[in-house]
Amino acid sequence: MTRPHVLVNVAMTADGKIDSAARRGAAISSAADKRRVDELRAGVDAVLVGGKTLLAESPKLTVRDSALRRARLERGLPENPMKVGVVSIADLDLEGDFVRAGPAERLVFTTRRTPPEQIVRLEKAGVQVFVSGGERVDLPEMLEILHRLGVRRLLVEGGGTLLAEFFRLGLVDELTIYLAPKIFGGASAPTPADGPGFAPEQAPRLTLVSVEKFDPEGGVLLHYTL
Ligand SMILES: NC(=O)c1ccc[n+]([C@@H]2O[C@H](COP(=O)([O-])OP(=O)(O)OC[C@H]3O[C@@H](n4cnc5c(N)ncnc54)[C@H](OP(=O)(O)O)[C@@H]3O)[C@@H](O)[C@H]2O)c1
Repeated sequence: MTRPHVLVNVAMTADGKIDSAARRGAAISSAADKRRVDELRAGVDAVLVGGKTLLAESPKLTVRDSALRRARLERGLPENPMKVGVVSIADLDLEGDFVRAGPAERLVFTTRRTPPEQIVRLEKAGVQVFVSGGERVDLPEMLEILHRLGVRRLLVEGGGTLLAEFFRLGLVDELTIYLAPKIFGGASAPTPADGPGFAPEQAPRLTLVSVEKFDPEGGVLLHYTL
């Protein structure tokens, strides 16, 4: 399969949570980490999020720093990477930041459970919609399509259900984790790999590349390859 190089980045608390149990997109990153993520985004062709993150938070996913955006333009790239959502029912808020913030190409991979009139609304708002024939979006096929559209480096930003699928299917090449010096707790708070979990003998194995004391707050940056 020809697919983009896939980087996963998450911000996680010291107890392994990527949000609090309230699931309202709690702040985890430090200012330095936000800057690092901005640079990561500026270095990829597309940024992807899962359906719950997309519908609940409608993230901007654009590059914040105007100097980084200018540098992309000077390299002959679009100002922002493509923004991609994977969602079984694409009930997106057309006024939300995912659709509105740009300029950026916006793509949504969904299933036939999205009503045709909603697909028309999304397309009118400039979103390219790809409808998968099956119950779920076929993630390897989605990656092939993205590769065909010119995506060579893809940043996957979560959440935990989508990431678990990427890990299970062996679709992750690199993982960076910003480990924040806080504890969120909560048995139902999301982690970087939710879903049903892996049998220990099938647990994806990581190779540690680096561990860095990252910022004055006490954050740590972990970098792995798979
Ligand atoms: N700290 C961080 O770095 C970070 C980053 C991003 C998100 N988050 C947090 O993560 C939480 C959300 O994570 P989550 O696990 O609830 O959800 P998620 O991973 O964002 O989205 C999962 C949903 O995406 C859809 N989806 C995933 N794979 C699909 C496929 N192959 N085909 C069709 N649809 C697919 C499904 O929607 P359906 O259920 O409709 O089928 C699924 O429930 C939020 O609390 C958010 O704040 C944290």
